[in-house]
Amino acid sequence: MIHSKILGVGSYLPEKILTNADLEKIVNTTDEWIVERTGISERRIAGEDETSATLGYKAASQALKKAEISANEIDMIIVATCTSDRFFPSTACLLQDKLSINRNIPAFDITAACSGFVYALVIAEQFIRGGIHKNILVVGTEVLSRGLDWTDRNTCVLFGDGAGAIILQASSEPGILSADLYAQGKYKEILSLPSFEILATENSQKQLLLPHLAMNGKEVFKLASKFVEEAIVETLAKNKLTHKDIDWIIPHQANERIMYAISKKLNISFDKFVSTIKYHGNTSAASIPLALDQFIDEGKIKPGHLILLEGFGGGMTWGSILIKY
Ligand code: COA
Repeated sequence: MIHSKILGVGSYLPEKILTNADLEKIVNTTDEWIVERTGISERRIAGEDETSATLGYKAASQALKKAEISANEIDMIIVATCTSDRFFPSTACLLQDKLSINRNIPAFDITAACSGFVYALVIAEQFIRGGIHKNILVVGTEVLSRGLDWTDRNTCVLFGDGAGAIILQASSEPGILSADLYAQGKYKEILSLPSFEILATENSQKQLLLPHLAMNGKEVFKLASKFVEEAIVETLAKNKLTHKDIDWIIPHQANERIMYAISKKLNISFDKFVSTIKYHGNTSAASIPLALDQFIDEGKIKPGHLILLEGFGGGMTWGSILIKY
């Protein structure tokens, strides 16, 4: 049987830092409120010349370097993003061009909001299992700062920009041990970033408005905690493990209080939860590979560790992957 292993991980954060103190000058908020409700102190904001493709390119280049393979050894590119540079071509095609990959390989984007990276990794694993693809570049990259209403304190304090990338390689040893993806479209209104739908309204003036992210924070909080708790229990049960066997849990970095709630409900030590939200904010599809890369670089995640990746986001979508690093 063909398995998948993580060969290299890379990430990139834009240079510009937006602190909570900076936000106090933009909307009616305080550092204290943001830290207490979310755990976020600062986030990065893409510069004028940066897009999802440029951030993704930097993360991908770093992942390739760490994996010690060349771009032309990549035989598929999957990009998870909800802030694609263009509706088309896909950010994956833009990346293929930036990486000067001359081979005619498949490249495509997928959208599952903040669960995007988990979805993309599962898709990549399926292709590797199929036996044709050997080295797949999986990228999560976002510039959600451009989809925010900067007068809405309920949302603009939460998000940041960034990118993370993984090279997934065919292997005889299992790296991805199990994976489950879920969605429930009836929750479509509680977290949404509209697009062409706006053009279907009678008010043509709306065509001039850029879409903004809209969210019912309390509902998202409640459902995200519930779905991730259920997914962790399910993944552990089907792999005949308990949380004591797990070295790290990397949840999507949306709110540290969501992580605390899950830790408390499942009676899992919070020390096992990877949290990078303090300095990244919610970077949507980029948050999990960014956190993974940081903890590998810091030597906290080591080869052989069992890690649970837990994504959740608009849709609602969610998913759980158990990996042996
Ligand atoms: N600064 C100061 N006050 C703020 C604020 C801000 N940035 N944002 C909201 N408030 C106010 C609200 O207006 C409200 O005031 P009111 O009581 O006078 O109406 C008060 O704070 C409480 O708001 P509430 O929405 O009840 O806060 P909360 O405890 O639910 O926290 C979130 C709000 C957004 C932090 C929280 O609901 C959350 O994190 N939800 C999940 C969001 C998420 O993860 N989204 C992405 C998922 S991928």
